[in-house]
Amino acid sequence: MSEEVFVSPKKKGKIAVFLSGRGSNFMAIHDAILAGKINAEIALVFSDKKDAPGLRIAEERNLETLFLDPKAYPSREAHEKAVTQEIRKRDVDLVVLAGYMRILSPSFCNELKYCMMNIHPALLPSFPGLHVQKKALEWGVKYSGATVHFVTVDVDMGPIILQAVVPVLQDDSEETLSERILKEEHKIYPESVRLYFEGKLEVRGRRVFIG
Ligand code: GAR
Repeated sequence: MSEEVFVSPKKKGKIAVFLSGRGSNFMAIHDAILAGKINAEIALVFSDKKDAPGLRIAEERNLETLFLDPKAYPSREAHEKAVTQEIRKRDVDLVVLAGYMRILSPSFCNELKYCMMNIHPALLPSFPGLHVQKKALEWGVKYSGATVHFVTVDVDMGPIILQAVVPVLQDDSEETLSERILKEEHKIYPESVRLYFEGKLEVRGRRVFIG
């Protein structure tokens, strides 16, 4: 069987950012767009949390925002269907999960294959899931970091776009390690989005080649 190949588009892209909280990765990407480093615009900032600070920041930055309450829908699929309609309406090319803390259904992931990225605060495939800085400390790893990857049906296991490594120090707490990792997240997430719309990401099977 021949291997599936995907090449990212070289174009001015439209992005939808999905977030559930603080929004610092969203800000890093938006700042890079404003600085002319990424050939894209943010068409929508979407949240599943009404009070997400990131949503307020997006409003202050005059970006279009949308909150759709998952509790208002009979199922996860119904909520996702409404979200899908909103992103289709805006001709979104890439969904950027930036601290979006909701597990997405296989059909949503398949529909947006290679059109959805996520950032995770660990060196995947180590420490998927939640509370990963705590898990890294408890395991005793000497290095941790951040991973940007395409989203696939297997949670946190999609093809890896970029990773950054940080040391784990002996006196680290969850907070100090998280802070060190977050600084790297703010570099590799905008860079991944930049590469995407430069047409420089080629996915072959599990591997992402950077042109
Ligand atoms: C980031 O550290 C991101 O890696 C993590 O949530 C934080 C969001 O921060 N995402 C996950 O854990 C996804 N599984 P932010 O709202 O300031 O960007």
